[in-house]
Amino acid sequence: MKLTAVFTFILCSLRIAATEELRHPPSRIAVVGAGIGGTSAAYFLRQKFGRHVQIDIIEKGDVGGRLSTVEMEGNHYEAGGSVIHPLNLHMKSFVKELGLGTRSLSGNLLGIYNGDEFIFQESEWYLINVIKMLWNYGLNFLRMYMWVEDVLDKFMRIYRYQTFDYSFSTTESLLHAVGGNDFTTKLNMTIDEAMQKSGFSQKFIDDIVVPAMRVNYGQGVKVNGFVGAVSLAGTDSGLWAVEGGNKLVCSGLIYASKAQLIMGTVTSVQERVRPTKSGGTVKLYEVSYETSAGPGLGMYDIVFLATPLNKEIANIDFLGFNPPIETFSKPYQQTVATFVHGRINASFFGCAKPCQFDLSEILTTDNPKHFISSIGSVSPVKPVPESDVSKNSDLKVWKVFSPEPLTDNQLRLLFESYHAVSAKKWLAYPKYTPPEKSPPIILHDGIYYVNSIEWAASAMEMSAISAKNVVLLAYHRWNGKDEHINQEDLAERLKSEL
Ligand SMILES: Cc1cc2nc3c(=O)[nH]c(=O)nc-3n(C[C@H](O)[C@H](O)[C@H](O)COP(=O)(O)OP(=O)(O)OC[C@H]3O[C@@H](n4cnc5c(N)ncnc54)[C@H](O)[C@@H]3O)c2cc1C
Ligand SMILES: *[C@@H]1O[C@H](CO)[C@@H](O)[C@H](O)[C@H]1NC(C)=O
Ligand SMILES: *[C@@H]1O[C@H](CO)[C@@H](O)[C@H](O)[C@H]1NC(C)=O
Repeated sequence: MKLTAVFTFILCSLRIAATEELRHPPSRIAVVGAGIGGTSAAYFLRQKFGRHVQIDIIEKGDVGGRLSTVEMEGNHYEAGGSVIHPLNLHMKSFVKELGLGTRSLSGNLLGIYNGDEFIFQESEWYLINVIKMLWNYGLNFLRMYMWVEDVLDKFMRIYRYQTFDYSFSTTESLLHAVGGNDFTTKLNMTIDEAMQKSGFSQKFIDDIVVPAMRVNYGQGVKVNGFVGAVSLAGTDSGLWAVEGGNKLVCSGLIYASKAQLIMGTVTSVQERVRPTKSGGTVKLYEVSYETSAGPGLGMYDIVFLATPLNKEIANIDFLGFNPPIETFSKPYQQTVATFVHGRINASFFGCAKPCQFDLSEILTTDNPKHFISSIGSVSPVKPVPESDVSKNSDLKVWKVFSPEPLTDNQLRLLFESYHAVSAKKWLAYPKYTPPEKSPPIILHDGIYYVNSIEWAASAMEMSAISAKNVVLLAYHRWNGKDEHINQEDLAERLKSEL
């Protein structure tokens, strides 16, 4: 009896000690940007810091950011980030948590056009495809599948680390913890070099890998090896999107996090010292912004920057910091998404009439002649009733990616006829030029940069993973818990913990 009482006492005191160890939670946190990075940060912040902290999300444009739809003839189509991989576990759990529906994206017949002819063309017959692949590229396809699988396998460790609350203070240390030198060296070389080193044939790289990079990142095989592998994972099966639009995840996460949304453009962040009730002082960040009703500002303990910080994107001044917080000037790649309801011009793609043209996705090789990166038929984000679908199967809605806006002449070349066009211009993702050095995550004691991770690879799930990492990092640093930051050998150490 007595002994148990002693034990209980010890346990209780330990527990009190454990809770007392935690510093008082921050009272106000600002998140700049309501894309998937900022909104998932707000969601994880609420989970980690509890219900009393005030979370303000400040957004200058639309909730969703680079997740956005365009409207054409009463239907909505994904204009930015559209494809989600079946192993993107954060996106998957958000959708489940928020009660959203999904739609699957598959069954597109793919062709690769080199400017003169199709060098690769899928048929409806699986066996024919396999034979063609083997005939033209030997075992390169199979090997690519295994190569990507290996990267993905290692990368999946991040979810386990995050479940056990581990965080990383730089993008490089996060990548190193999941994939070792194998991953960090991928940032230092192009996907071209990485695949050559792994024994892929140059023909396979030029014919198959280049087009996959162009459709996903608007750039060829000079992108870094890591984003290259992410891009190739986009050729897997089981790809999906959110019913009603991927941006619904962002609005859902704001709602679930009970964050306050402020529609305004953040112009500057500076450090202020304020007296406290108890006679001491506290350092806070003053975040200034412009709203349609005039200027506003807020004082925050922690600031999350969930947007690329480039001048032409965010244009935020960091005032009075010593040493100064560097501005990020590495350029972003422009990509234009153009939606066209019309009949594709088969002869433009070297298919002489009469020609059977049943491709629904056309990728392109590296040829200066091309003014497009890709063209593919798309479905609305919400399934349309059968009766509304055009009976004429070659009168589809096509999404064209190009580095520059399409001219009328170019549209008339691509389409025999069309009757609706809608375009959206993006600064879409970094212009990758390895060796890649990601910008820091910690910009100041309490200022964090969620989008550092984009320089390893830009994707919805990458922003969500980074958001969770940065929230854990901010939490541990707030509470002085270094043992959950930058730990190596986690894969080994967590094996025994189930
Ligand atoms: C055409 C295209 C296709 C893509 N395809 C895919 C795909 O298929 N799959 C995939 O996973 N990813 C894809 N991506 C990438 C993906 O969309 C992005 O990686 C992801 O959406 C980035 O989210 P984010 O929240 O980090 O940034 P953003 O979505 O850019 O969010 C940043 C937000 O901050 C706001 N903001 C900026 N400055 C300020 C300021 N000063 N004050 C207030 N607010 C500010 C912006 O308005 C924006 O809403 C694609 C991107 C593009 C453009
Ligand atoms: C990658 O290159 C950078 C220099 O750009 C270097 O500092 C770093 O050590 C290199 N990393 C690896 C893993 O080779
Ligand atoms: C279709 O493509 C061919 C070949 O590029 C071009 O000559 C023609 O003008 C295009 N347009 C139409 C409507 O056929």
